[in-house]
Amino acid sequence: MRSTPIFWLKVTVVTLTGFFIFYTSKILFSYQFFKKLGLKTPKYRFFYGNQLELTKNNNYSDVLKEWTKFHGKTYGYYEGHFPVIVSSDLEFLQEVFIKQSSNFSARRKIFVSRDEDAPDHALFTASRNRWKKMRNIMNPTFSSAKLRELGPLLILCADRLKHVLENENEKEVNITQFFKRFTMDSIWNCAFGVDIDFQNNPENIYFKKCESLFEFLSKPNILSFIGNYFHEFLDPFMEVILFLEKFLSNFIDFTRINPILWFMNHVFEIVEIRKKGNIVKKDYLQLLINCQTLTTIEVKLNLALFMIAGYETTSIALTYACYCLAKYQGEQAKVYEAIRQHFDSEEEINSDSIQEVEYLDMFVKEVLRYYPTGTSIISRKCTKSTNVRGIDIPEGLVIAVDALSLHEDVDLWGPVDPKEFYPLRHAVKRNPLAFWSFGNGPRNCIGMKFAFLELKIALSKMLINFEILPLKDMNEELELFEAFVRRPKHDVNVTLRKR
Ligand code: HEM
Ligand SMILES: *[C@@H]1O[C@H](CO)[C@@H](O)[C@H](O)[C@H]1NC(C)=O
Ligand SMILES: *[C@@H]1O[C@H](CO)[C@@H](O)[C@H](O)[C@H]1NC(C)=O
Ligand SMILES: *[C@@H]1O[C@H](CO)[C@@H](O)[C@H](O)[C@H]1NC(C)=O
Ligand SMILES: *[C@@H]1O[C@H](CO)[C@@H](O)[C@H](O)[C@H]1NC(C)=O
Repeated sequence: MRSTPIFWLKVTVVTLTGFFIFYTSKILFSYQFFKKLGLKTPKYRFFYGNQLELTKNNNYSDVLKEWTKFHGKTYGYYEGHFPVIVSSDLEFLQEVFIKQSSNFSARRKIFVSRDEDAPDHALFTASRNRWKKMRNIMNPTFSSAKLRELGPLLILCADRLKHVLENENEKEVNITQFFKRFTMDSIWNCAFGVDIDFQNNPENIYFKKCESLFEFLSKPNILSFIGNYFHEFLDPFMEVILFLEKFLSNFIDFTRINPILWFMNHVFEIVEIRKKGNIVKKDYLQLLINCQTLTTIEVKLNLALFMIAGYETTSIALTYACYCLAKYQGEQAKVYEAIRQHFDSEEEINSDSIQEVEYLDMFVKEVLRYYPTGTSIISRKCTKSTNVRGIDIPEGLVIAVDALSLHEDVDLWGPVDPKEFYPLRHAVKRNPLAFWSFGNGPRNCIGMKFAFLELKIALSKMLINFEILPLKDMNEELELFEAFVRRPKHDVNVTLRKR
């Protein structure tokens, strides 16, 4: 054997060429997938699949809706060369999300999560039996009785919102920012048992760190690039990054650079202190600790998940709601009347009484139907090969939902045009699979009741104290922007007048 540099160069070139040919054939072969399944697809390009069209304009959900018009209620597309089925067919979704949900007990992978078998998964990314066990343990922590315990903290935060807004009477305010601080305040209070009072301390470092966490998550990076185009390599790549991070953290403090690590570190500390100090509080951390069957790492990860899953979704829903109240003054009058009729004074508002205001309930539901925020996160991954309505679904295939088409379907939401904002349509009992703002089936949003409660308490406290004046430009349409959540592209300004 001669081991000259030339020899090794040859070996390297041959290996790389071989790999290149192999991987290119694999990609080409992947594009046979939907042909074999007999499903239509939009036009795709080699390597990119449909990914560019889906992501370049940040209107993912609108693109799905557009494709549905051309390819029917159930079709496929390629993320790079990774196949995804999209459906807005009620019978198909009924099977995937409800009847056969045990065959679909995982979600599509998100780029920052580790592979399915790694030990550290929170509820959102857990799969199969692990998800099932965790969800069964956690379901009771979001029961109505447990939420009642969190009610007083939400009232405290809503009162703070009222006070900070009082200083802005009859001035134009950037209401999005107020709702962000309100939501942040309520999460730190209700979930972590830490009262930072973000609303009176807008420059607080915790707030800024958490905000940059969401910025980080919504921006494209090397991991999302690999996930999109080289999905086979995402898991090993993630492990290499984690290994390097662990090794280098002896020399570099990553929590100062990466807001995710800063946040996780902080939450982990809060849990440690609580467990060591034998302190008992009435917050979500306590509810998790009281589930004796969750390990400490599961408590930590699921507590952190409260922020990741509950912050942007809720604060953005409040912005949409406020925008609708300002735009549809007639609706504002009706919601205000309903609240007034129910309460003699705002002190009567609590987590039970607020649920009885029917028009408020319909208004909030209509806001969420009209402006669903979490459309791109609703997905299921097949965990056991099966057949759904005549389509053979192999293990690993991802099913996404075209929620916009369903929310705008006149058969499901008529007779009043679904393009109209009309809360009373919720007075009629609708097909549960018509409404997708919180997903559906046993793996729907676990925080739904909490989110409704938070939205209702904040909106009722606000409306009882302030009139929201009409928008400057009543014909304006909200411009949206979708990166994980679907949100208004720009912050919303409104003017409030003390009642
Ligand atoms: C208006 C506010 C919110 C909206 C629109 C929303 C929306 C959603 C959606 C669409 C899903 C996916 C459901 C599916 O795949 O079927 C989801 C899952 C989830 N949400 Fe929410 N959410 C909100 C608030 C919250 C809050 C406050 C929490 C607090 C804990 C939360 C925690 C979760 C968790 C843990 C999951 C994953 C559940 C699982 O995989 O078992 N969400 N949410
Ligand atoms: C997505 O956004 C782009 C740019 O704003 C626009 O041209 C396109 O029509 C949008 N697609 C859909 C389906 O709305
Ligand atoms: C929104 O309100 C803020 C004051 O809170 C003001 O500085 C800003 O210019 C307003 N923005 C728009 C687009 O009107
Ligand atoms: C799950 O899939 C199998 C086929 O792999 C099928 O026999 C079974 O009925 C499905 N489960 C449910 C609950 O439908
Ligand atoms: C709202 O406030 C943020 C931060 O203070 C600012 O960057 C943004 O431009 C404001 N938006 C509007 C519409 O005024």
